[in-house]
Amino acid sequence: MYNGKKLALPPLLTGLERLEYRGYDSAGLVLLEDGLPAFYKAPGQLQNLREKVKNSYVCSSFGMAHTRWATHGGATEANAHPHVSQSQDLIIVHNGIVENYLVIKKKLENSGFTFYSETDTEVLVNFIELIKIDKKLDLTSAVQVALSEIVGACAMMVYSQSEKLLVAVNRGGQLFAGVNGSECFVASDKNAFAGYSKNFFEIGNNQFLLVRSGKEPKLLNFNLEVLKPEIEELDVDINQLTKGDYPNFMLKEIHEQPEIMRQGMTGRINFKTQEICFGGLDECWEQIKQASSLVIVACGTSFHAGLLAKYWLEKLVNIPVKVEYASEFQAATIKAGDIVLGISQSGTTADTIVALEAAKDQGAITLGVCNVVNSKMARLVNAGIYTRAGVENGVASTKAFTAQALALLLFALKLANDKKTISNFNLRIINQLESLPNLMEQALGSEKVIRTLARKLKQTTNCLFLGRGYSFPVALEGALKLKEISYVHAEGLPAGESKHGPLALIDEAMPVIVIATQGEFYYKTMNNISEIKHHGGRVIALVNKNDNEITGLTKEIIVVPLVDDILSPLINVIPLQLFAYYSAFSRGKDVDHPRNLAKSVTTE
Ligand code: AGP
Repeated sequence: MYNGKKLALPPLLTGLERLEYRGYDSAGLVLLEDGLPAFYKAPGQLQNLREKVKNSYVCSSFGMAHTRWATHGGATEANAHPHVSQSQDLIIVHNGIVENYLVIKKKLENSGFTFYSETDTEVLVNFIELIKIDKKLDLTSAVQVALSEIVGACAMMVYSQSEKLLVAVNRGGQLFAGVNGSECFVASDKNAFAGYSKNFFEIGNNQFLLVRSGKEPKLLNFNLEVLKPEIEELDVDINQLTKGDYPNFMLKEIHEQPEIMRQGMTGRINFKTQEICFGGLDECWEQIKQASSLVIVACGTSFHAGLLAKYWLEKLVNIPVKVEYASEFQAATIKAGDIVLGISQSGTTADTIVALEAAKDQGAITLGVCNVVNSKMARLVNAGIYTRAGVENGVASTKAFTAQALALLLFALKLANDKKTISNFNLRIINQLESLPNLMEQALGSEKVIRTLARKLKQTTNCLFLGRGYSFPVALEGALKLKEISYVHAEGLPAGESKHGPLALIDEAMPVIVIATQGEFYYKTMNNISEIKHHGGRVIALVNKNDNEITGLTKEIIVVPLVDDILSPLINVIPLQLFAYYSAFSRGKDVDHPRNLAKSVTTE
């Protein structure tokens, strides 16, 4: 939303571009000039909307915009936001789901309302209108009543043409307001107005922001009492929001990883004393040290980072770790004092937030490993670690994964050191960590080989990824990356499991990418490769330089620098990210906007 004295369209389009990670099935906007609305909507990516508005002559300094990830109703123009109420008085944009929308819709239909879209949002705006009319309320009070009757988290902005008032409200979602003199911006992510406004404040849970043209915005609590906003400075590097010299965000972010590792270690590892410190965990460190087990909850790529943490913690600290898909987490198993660690790039993934909230309700000590500073997760947990990956724009998570992995490895090392479960080990690993960014740069050096390989496999429709021990979560991550951006069916499997069923899938048309770098399971993995080869399979092996055993079994190899087994995931994932990237690229896919996905999934 923009309200000010300048043209509303440029900041609205910039904001939409920066919010595309929330969904890009369709986009729409409304511009208000002399109180009259002009609507523009287009299915598909933002570019389609840009085409529509490019010849707009509307000279408006007040507007709202939205980019959608379809939950209720397909990605059509009719379902794109903004939506209007039956009388045309109310205009809404909305994030979240009205879970009881069907019941409300029935009620509205019985009262004579007609619907033009399949969305819960159109139900919501008409519900507010019905309350407004029936109870003779103004917009703010009608929104307040509606909120107490709808089920589900939401963040919305509703504009009333008759009252010339915009009400922005947040219930369980996220909303931020930017204030720059007489200009006001509202968005679900403060980066949407970075560069336009230096200051911002959060519209907290159950708070309202009232915006009128030419007036200062007013922040209210749920009882409609005026609050003083806590103004903060918006500290974001605009370069993080652009692709720079890269063709897309994903490739840029893959290449940022060595630098992200440097940032992730700065101030946390003292390479002279081999000490590790995390200020954010101090408060709970004693309880963490006493814990006899740990539960991790996360989704997608963050879940894979959680699996890595399990290997590290079990190996280094000797405590059992359970890693749960956040959406499958059973809070009933949690007892007061248990440690539950959530991992999330965005810090807003609904499944992970709900799991952490449930754990908290059981009396657990909750920890977070999170990238977005001050996000929902960061504020929910008792203590945590920021992963310092900078803004990640690519829907396919890359640098956030390695940043999470690094933070979790340091966490395990520190815990092992403090609990004295390892000896003389820190020294070797910490010395290697110092050279990790350089080793990552070397791993990125295999880009050309990988591009050629991906081109060769352009017709492939299925692919297996195998790894054992620390390499198993990496295999899962390699498969997820390939699936999500190139739409190739891929599975990640523990290498040792291949002989227990998946071997039946093996033929020439099923390439198997095996992580076969030096380490505890090198020879066992070599046997698995041998089995696949003997059954007529095609193996592409990730090996270290000067490997002459696996190279005797397969000639298709990707060479990665040699590191200690324990650090290998941070290196080995890089060629798999590049493989997914070039597979998608050679198939002509839009890597930053994979179909049907959104970067940040704020619905359950
Ligand atoms: C990763 O490439 C995916 N886009 C997705 O699996 C993601 O990791 C998942 O949705 C969790 O997101 P979060 O880390 O922001 O919680």
